[in-house]
Amino acid sequence: MVLDRSKNGSADGPWWRDATVYQVYVRSFADADGDGVGDLPGITARLPHLADLGVDAVWLTPFYRSPQHDHGYDVADYRDVDPLFGDLGDAERLVEAAHGLGLRVIVDLVPNHTSSEHAWFRAAVEAGPGSPERARYHFRPPSPEPPNNWRSVFGGSAWTRVDDGSEDPEWYLHLFDSTQPDLDWQHPEVGDMFVDVLRFWLDRGVDGFRVDVAHGLVKAPGLPDHDDPDLPPPGRDDSMVARDRADEPMWDQPGVHEVYRRWHDVLAAYSAQGAERMMVAEAWTPDAESMSRYVRADEFQQAFNFAWLLAPWSASAFAGVVADTLEAVGRVDASATWVLSNHDVVRHPTRYAAGATPERGLARARAATLTMLALPGSAYLYQGEELGLPEADVAPEHRTDPSWFRTGEVGRDGCRVPLPWEGDEPPYGFGPAPAGSQPWLPQPAEWASLSVAVQQADDDSTLAFYRRALAARREVLPGVPREVTVEVDGDVLVLRRGDLVCQLNCGESAVEPPSGEVLACSGPVPGAADTATWVRAG
Ligand code: GLC
Repeated sequence: MVLDRSKNGSADGPWWRDATVYQVYVRSFADADGDGVGDLPGITARLPHLADLGVDAVWLTPFYRSPQHDHGYDVADYRDVDPLFGDLGDAERLVEAAHGLGLRVIVDLVPNHTSSEHAWFRAAVEAGPGSPERARYHFRPPSPEPPNNWRSVFGGSAWTRVDDGSEDPEWYLHLFDSTQPDLDWQHPEVGDMFVDVLRFWLDRGVDGFRVDVAHGLVKAPGLPDHDDPDLPPPGRDDSMVARDRADEPMWDQPGVHEVYRRWHDVLAAYSAQGAERMMVAEAWTPDAESMSRYVRADEFQQAFNFAWLLAPWSASAFAGVVADTLEAVGRVDASATWVLSNHDVVRHPTRYAAGATPERGLARARAATLTMLALPGSAYLYQGEELGLPEADVAPEHRTDPSWFRTGEVGRDGCRVPLPWEGDEPPYGFGPAPAGSQPWLPQPAEWASLSVAVQQADDDSTLAFYRRALAARREVLPGVPREVTVEVDGDVLVLRRGDLVCQLNCGESAVEPPSGEVLACSGPVPGAADTATWVRAG
């Protein structure tokens, strides 16, 4: 299939290098069949919204067969679509429609664990201790205490006794929910199975993969105790950047890189025959240097740069992340990525509102977005951020996140509430269900004024801002150098790429914007507090 290679943020190079990628959380984007849960035909019908927005690619969260204990990150069959979301034909039609609009499609791959309902795990339960079926997972003999002190990312022990009907059952490892048993990547069949899965989706035309928990597949030999078992897992606190996580036996082990070298070759063979394919790592690593190991020339094309998302609202913190990131990826000749929100974290307008007001939170969110759009590399956007959606307050009786059930902490439902498209009442055009009926997570009443339809008609809306910003990125970035100069003056960050100057004012009062022609601005007044401004230096 020939795609329109219209310019994105890059003058040359592969499509993914300076792409803007829009993350679709499949359950919550658009619901075609009216059951209150988003689906593939719903996404296909709404793809023109993404083409109009001006993104280059779509990343779809898992839509494979799954009991949905972790909303699809518990896969029971990697080669089929869950009936909740449609069927294989719907997936193929989505890819074709996206390509027809010039949008690439990235799908999610979940290799660290399967669902406990995957045929392999069922066979393992059935076959019993010592069986070859159990060797594909991390089973350990019965004992009064779990085999080691590892904690689940979702809370509690990372070990559960298998429910196989025996009196003294074995333990199995799950770094996430107990319905997500970890695969043993030392077992050759595991690696072979995922190569087949990659090929299955590449043969259906997908352009790339987002690889879930890419830093977790390989565990330290012998599964030794963690020195500090109560240390929050990577990404679950905001101090990871400063911590030394070198000795965590379940994360970032050297063996993971062999897995990705093999996958790199699989993708390269497809790229050689047609459109370029890519993979992006979800790897929560302690610093930019360890992140850069995932993007060496024979591994991933990209890795999420969570340091940008974790940075506080501070010119010097942002400057540090930009400098460290560009230095680290530059060392391995890779390109950077930038991300502020996704389906696992509190939406960025709400994060930036802490200690301020919701209005300032939104202004800062827009400013941080415009700043990241000025940087070389890919920007990943999360659905609804183009509407400036805040984190929703989901009442306890509606929460569904497994981490809520395991820890009693609020969890991630608040960033996963279905999008408001139009109308005065839920489901706000999310699907054809009767007016007044709520989708799988209830939509707040205030979202009526945040719908796509309302914002489309308002030139000052966040949606109008995103469209202008993405258009400016396409227009301006291909003509400027990739090298970035980073300066901090008090609370003001200034990034320069040739004659493009991006000023971000993190302070309390207005400053002079850089002199020259204003190309884009995140708020009404260039140079104002909580504002980013792009200027072509005069
Ligand atoms: C990743 C996903 C998250 C999921 C977890 C387990 O972090 O982004 O949503 O719960 O992996 O698969």
